[in-house]
Amino acid sequence: MAIQNVGIIMNGVTGRMGTNQHLIRSIVAMREQGGIKLSNGDIIMPDPILVGRRADRLQELVKTHNLSRWSTNLEEVLADDYNQIYFDSQTTVRRAEGIRQAIEAGKHIYCEKPTATSLEESLELASLAKAAGVKNGVVQDKLYLPGLLKLQQLIDSGFFGEILSVRMEFGYWVFEGDLQEGQRPSWNYRKEDGGGIIVDMFAHWRYVIHHLFGQIKSVSCIGATHIKERVDENGETYQATADDAAYGTFELENGIIVQANSSWAVRVNRDDLLTITVDGTEGSAVAGLRDCKVQHRANTPRATWNPDIANPFDFESQWQEVPENEYFDNAFKVQWEMFLKHVVADEPYDLDLLEGAKGTQLSELALQSWKEKRWVDVPELKVALKV
Ligand SMILES: NC(=O)c1ccc[n+]([C@@H]2O[C@H](COP(=O)([O-])OP(=O)(O)OC[C@H]3O[C@@H](n4cnc5c(N)ncnc54)[C@H](O)[C@@H]3O)[C@@H](O)[C@H]2O)c1
Repeated sequence: MAIQNVGIIMNGVTGRMGTNQHLIRSIVAMREQGGIKLSNGDIIMPDPILVGRRADRLQELVKTHNLSRWSTNLEEVLADDYNQIYFDSQTTVRRAEGIRQAIEAGKHIYCEKPTATSLEESLELASLAKAAGVKNGVVQDKLYLPGLLKLQQLIDSGFFGEILSVRMEFGYWVFEGDLQEGQRPSWNYRKEDGGGIIVDMFAHWRYVIHHLFGQIKSVSCIGATHIKERVDENGETYQATADDAAYGTFELENGIIVQANSSWAVRVNRDDLLTITVDGTEGSAVAGLRDCKVQHRANTPRATWNPDIANPFDFESQWQEVPENEYFDNAFKVQWEMFLKHVVADEPYDLDLLEGAKGTQLSELALQSWKEKRWVDVPELKVALKV
């Protein structure tokens, strides 16, 4: 048994996603569990070097998590052959530049979504990586959430019969920052800084819909900036220039209709921050982040419209939970492990920069649909090799 140390440059690691999901719950968790075991018995041990602007914050993270390597000099760490992977969870507008530099330095690439704010730039990254022959991956964490894995299992088992429609309800109230601090970074609400819920969430909806339900044929979307003014991290009032809600409808090649409401300006009265309702000829399901409940055709109660009497049904109690028959690890960690096995042992991995670009494509077409007030077809995306 050999231990294979893999140097990983982590850029943007002081941010919300970088610290919580990628550093603590993925990389540090993998180190604490003793690395990742390969089928030949070897162990992959991720060895991160934390990169950013502020030495004090990086030093604090390194100390807290029992690590040793940090740097404020990206060029220097990119020049070091020990570091095989460049990971980026900076703000979206900074990502492309970091990835370009890393590809030039011959690093494998793993990064957050969206890969860029425009399709052109997302595609450029995919083609640069392909031309350089570096392995690459983009976070598609929702695929590995327990609730969605249960839903996938229901689909694979044929539970639904023919799937007719899907309704995805995502959102919660993001505080404006005046009475209470906002729970998301302020750049999310400024278009000029890469913000906007369409750019953010449609990157997720693309892969969720594609993997669970089918190829998207066309999209219709209306966006809104419901909360016009917010207060930032420094207590300064600013104008929200980006959309904070999006009401989308997707028609799939197989005829399934998918609706997706995404909003940072709704108060939650549902089982979870994301719920996905699937209705099929044989049964229906509602999946949240962790749970999933079902109602089969055979035990669907007869609902009768009658507002003249008190509602006799407790609708919630008419569903059965899909049991938790297995342990589900953190969704980000699951994907990190797959990508590391891909880099070290060449195991298959297809959630790459081209797939990431398809997310940016869907966001861009949804923005176009909103602007032009019409349905927009989603053409097949291919990567052109750049030389
Ligand atoms: N997969 C998901 O579910 C998910 C969820 C939220 C956000 N994201 C994505 O992750 C990325 C980060 O989002 P976040 O919420 O963690 O943002 P954040 O603002 O908390 O973190 C951004 C990071 O970028 C760094 N950064 C910003 N400006 C910089 C500059 N000028 N120079 C150097 N570094 C700079 C910050 O120091 C920080 O480390 C975004 O692209 C976002 O779309 C993904």
